[in-house]
Amino acid sequence: SRTAELAGKKLLISAGGTREPLDPVRYLTNHSSGKMGFAIAEAAQAAGADVTLIAANTSLPVPDNVKVVRVQTARELLAAIKARFSEADALIMAAAVADYRPANVAEQKIKKTAQNTTMTLELVRNPDILKEIGLLKKPDQLLIGFAAETNDLITNAEKKIKAKHLDLIVANDVSQRGIGFNADNNQVTFLFKNGEQQKTAIESKQRVAKQLIEILSHRLFN
Ligand code: C5P
Repeated sequence: SRTAELAGKKLLISAGGTREPLDPVRYLTNHSSGKMGFAIAEAAQAAGADVTLIAANTSLPVPDNVKVVRVQTARELLAAIKARFSEADALIMAAAVADYRPANVAEQKIKKTAQNTTMTLELVRNPDILKEIGLLKKPDQLLIGFAAETNDLITNAEKKIKAKHLDLIVANDVSQRGIGFNADNNQVTFLFKNGEQQKTAIESKQRVAKQLIEILSHRLFN
């Protein structure tokens, strides 16, 4: 077996979906379950890495020997990553981050009224975590992003790898049933900086995670 391929490497892995509160009882979120990020954490730990999982709103069991930090919002996720990134050899951003959050969080539960048959929510942009971390990245640190798309998968992923200064992007088509968000299976295309593409079969998130770890250990860290 190929144990300890990542021995001595410190990996930060984000997983899950951020929640952006609206009032004490409501929030905006997305369909991320955290399964992909947790599978990556487990595979990385099995390969000998020192793994810190930053988990946004998941109820999944934490893999053995993985440290976990729990966050709720995009801004909390950014702070948790910023506090640890300088020590890390790689950041894998599998979390689904809300691009916008409510401009105001009501202190009390928002009530419906007889007059208000419609309601308008004002949203403001959240920080782009990968973009901010990209500015802090040293040459020997790796940044790996995900691209969940419903259309123009590869074109959009290629744009993201450049815009966010990534070493690798893991692109998946979330419009297909049975793969991606919340599913147990996934099918991804690994897209490298040089434009090279590697598409996986439809397979378990555990197997996709293992392939990512192989790419990290045999290619990106060399
Ligand atoms: O541009 P898009 O949000 O689709 O890019 C996806 C990648 O960027 C994912 O790796 C996601 O975790 C990361 N991201 C981020 N901060 C955001 C939005 C997305 O780091 N505000």
